[in-house]
Amino acid sequence: MLVTGATGFIGLEVCRVLSQAGIPTRAMFRRRHRGALLGPLGVDLVFGDLTSPASIDRAVQGCRAVIHLGGRATFEPIDRLRPTLVDGTRSLVEACERHGVGRIVFGSSLLVHGPSDGLELTSASPTNPVIDYGQAKLEAEAVLAHSGAVSALSIRLPHVYGWNDLLFGILRSRLLPFPADLDARFPHMHVTDAALALMAAVDQSVTGPLPIADDLTVTWRHFFEVIETYLPEVQILAMPAKPIELALRVADRLPLRKPTMLASDTIRGWNLDLTVPPETMKQLHLQCRYPTIETGIPAVLDESLPYRWRHPLLDRRNG
Ligand SMILES: NC(=O)c1ccc[n+]([C@@H]2O[C@H](COP(=O)([O-])OP(=O)(O)OC[C@H]3O[C@@H](n4cnc5c(N)ncnc54)[C@H](OP(=O)(O)O)[C@@H]3O)[C@@H](O)[C@H]2O)c1
Repeated sequence: MLVTGATGFIGLEVCRVLSQAGIPTRAMFRRRHRGALLGPLGVDLVFGDLTSPASIDRAVQGCRAVIHLGGRATFEPIDRLRPTLVDGTRSLVEACERHGVGRIVFGSSLLVHGPSDGLELTSASPTNPVIDYGQAKLEAEAVLAHSGAVSALSIRLPHVYGWNDLLFGILRSRLLPFPADLDARFPHMHVTDAALALMAAVDQSVTGPLPIADDLTVTWRHFFEVIETYLPEVQILAMPAKPIELALRVADRLPLRKPTMLASDTIRGWNLDLTVPPETMKQLHLQCRYPTIETGIPAVLDESLPYRWRHPLLDRRNG
């Protein structure tokens, strides 16, 4: 099994659950010093850059399936996202076709949808991304859907949370500025459940898009209230969205910007009101280990001893 984006937040957890399950795993790294993060998991390491088709060709050889999580996972303008998220996915599909790799499970996003207006999102719901990241994910899904030789499933992930994600990273500083509507609903999922879903999907025949989340969509306000229950010293600073969004729109156009979540679309994305029905994991014959944030967030806090981890967007070396 090849995992792209193996050194990322979700990819690292996928490698951990694959390794625990005894599944032979090849983890693709782009930056050598980040590949070293995977050493303790006992997985094989392979260099691969989604902007280098030759390296992808080498990475997939001999694999039966790919869990595809690599690419610029930010809410930046589309010209910054397409080279890895769309063109990189195309290179991956072509390499899989050449080498007889039969299955790709792709980490897509619920942000291929616009606001769901209280309706619960399913794989049949219309797609109308309002941010460029959602558009890029949709284009990548289309690339996968048009591959005749490879069976592809695009799992539309919600906000995936865990101690290693950016949000909890900011919470460590005890102050989280949040320039979006706290009453907007957004679906969430604990990173271990996301990893288990991606792993299970490899051996199932379902194709096309599949939205998943935990069993209860909540508002951001509720999400932060649960965190504050356990970390009362944390302050969530509600901020007016519009002026910050406008300022970030200028910053978005700065040339040679390193990958960042500080983009105007981040605010637009957080403000979308999205809902997913309960028990979506049943579509993959699974149940959530953490069905709601009420159990998931304390579990995250119980594991809260980051050691060598640094989020890809905060690690500027050789980027
Ligand atoms: N986190 C969420 O809440 C969420 C929700 C929905 C969907 N997703 C999707 O799930 C996937 C994984 O998300 P994540 O949060 O784990 O992202 P992440 O932590 O930012 O990880 C991104 C990964 O992609 C790798 N990468 C970046 N550019 C690359 C390139 N040119 N070639 C090869 N690899 C490259 C990074 O390598 P380095 O370590 O070297 O930078 C890293 O391993 C992404 O596609 C994301 O869009 C995430």
